[in-house]
Amino acid sequence: MNVAGGEAPVTTGRIIIVGAGIGALHAALELAPRPVLVISPEVLGGGASSAWAQGGVAAAMAANDTAEDHAQDTMRAGAGTVDPAVARMVTADARAQILELTELGTPFDRDAMGGYVLSREAAHARARVVRVKGDQAGREIMQALIAAVRATPSVQVAEGVMASGLEVRDGFVTGVWLERADAPSGRVLVRGAAVLLAGGGSGGLYAVTTNPPRIRGQVIGMAARAGAMIADAEFVQFHPTAIASGEDPAPLATEALRGEGAVLVNAAGERFMLAVHPDAELAPRDIVARAIFAETQAGRRPMLDTRAVLGAEIASRFPAVTAACLRAGIDPVTEPIPVAAAAHYHMGGVDTRSDGRASLGGLWVCGEASSTGLHGANRLASNGLLEALVFARICARGIAESLGEVKDAPPVALQFPTDGDAPDPALIAELRRLMTDHVGVVRDAAGLRHALAGIARIEAQGGESENLRNMTATATLIAAAALVRQESRGGHFRTDFPAPDPAQARRSHMTLTEALRIRSLCETEEP
Ligand code: SIN
Repeated sequence: MNVAGGEAPVTTGRIIIVGAGIGALHAALELAPRPVLVISPEVLGGGASSAWAQGGVAAAMAANDTAEDHAQDTMRAGAGTVDPAVARMVTADARAQILELTELGTPFDRDAMGGYVLSREAAHARARVVRVKGDQAGREIMQALIAAVRATPSVQVAEGVMASGLEVRDGFVTGVWLERADAPSGRVLVRGAAVLLAGGGSGGLYAVTTNPPRIRGQVIGMAARAGAMIADAEFVQFHPTAIASGEDPAPLATEALRGEGAVLVNAAGERFMLAVHPDAELAPRDIVARAIFAETQAGRRPMLDTRAVLGAEIASRFPAVTAACLRAGIDPVTEPIPVAAAAHYHMGGVDTRSDGRASLGGLWVCGEASSTGLHGANRLASNGLLEALVFARICARGIAESLGEVKDAPPVALQFPTDGDAPDPALIAELRRLMTDHVGVVRDAAGLRHALAGIARIEAQGGESENLRNMTATATLIAAAALVRQESRGGHFRTDFPAPDPAQARRSHMTLTEALRIRSLCETEEP
């Protein structure tokens, strides 16, 4: 057994997987019997975004549906920048992924004939989302994967550990810096056979978010700091119906509720989406999010009314939503649910090719930390878990191919030095407020420049915390890419450039060096 202690690097033949959500666990299982080390900040299942997903997995399972129709909806929602080849590849694999998860024991909802119960979500032309117990898909898929991982001897899970940096030699990723997630600690460098990043997105960089507390852009940030190309950083998806109960993170009221017929009303009782889009509550997510944001800003208190369509059934059909409402003293059977737009999903991330590789050698990426071209400027609902599953397998196969024959490797024992810098919670709170206020649902050049100056100051005040630097790196990339994109498209809306510009209908690519150059031009902006 290798023992990592003090500053001495440890070398292992294991593949290091950073993250412990659906993509990470699926890849670990796919790689078996190759030895892997899964880095999980919490006990497995706690704190991964995947486990919080309510909607489910989009897949053409109905007799009247096709993968091509699913791909077309993905491209339409993505507002002109989806890579069609990636959309077709991912949607074509969806059915097989669902059948496999079923085999693994995921208890998808079934009808009386044994068919999958399918929910309709925004911008899908038909009901296409495979779900579990109404709003429990993420949790239940994770339970099935965790049970399989626990029974797979080749998978070592390091719980309570997080990654905070990558070692790069000659353009090749050779190791991962690890530290304790549950207490301040020093760092240990672990060099492995290959590195897969599967550690989630950036939602928690915002003050109002549906993401678990630890998901704050750290994985994208560490890859960017190591020199990886980042794509589509400006495209952040805001979910229209987070429950506005003051809880942080904000609990989600799944879009499936609107698929069932729940309507959006304001304090005056107006169903305001009717005037905004022909599909009303089922318009693409960015359009609904902006309408909700406008109602909130105008003080008209937007609410989701499930009473007429669900009545008392909401408790049995959407237990997570009901529990969140009751925690906040809202009874959804008798009252409409107050809602707000909240940062939910980052379409941008580490630029990832269709073989799962990043721009640095030895580095693969899957799930929300990646940007594969599937989502374009606006992710189609419930395509997130699907992408994670499909690319987890692609990455696992690519890694296996690159390593050749299976070699055994003993478990790694991790011991961390006790000294270390934890990020200052006040600085994180300030960063999150800045992102929500100036890099949020609605943006303009002055606000973005102000945000970049503020991010630079927060970073300078943050001392030696690698964790905070990873967050500020991602925040810088989001704000800089948003400043550069002088148009509105999908999740990126600029009040100073409110229309899409066909000449800019392409994905963006930016290194951290370029983003920092843009930031340095704004650093005199703060009062
Ligand atoms: C939801 O259930 O509304 C969220 C689903 C998703 O983000 O894909």
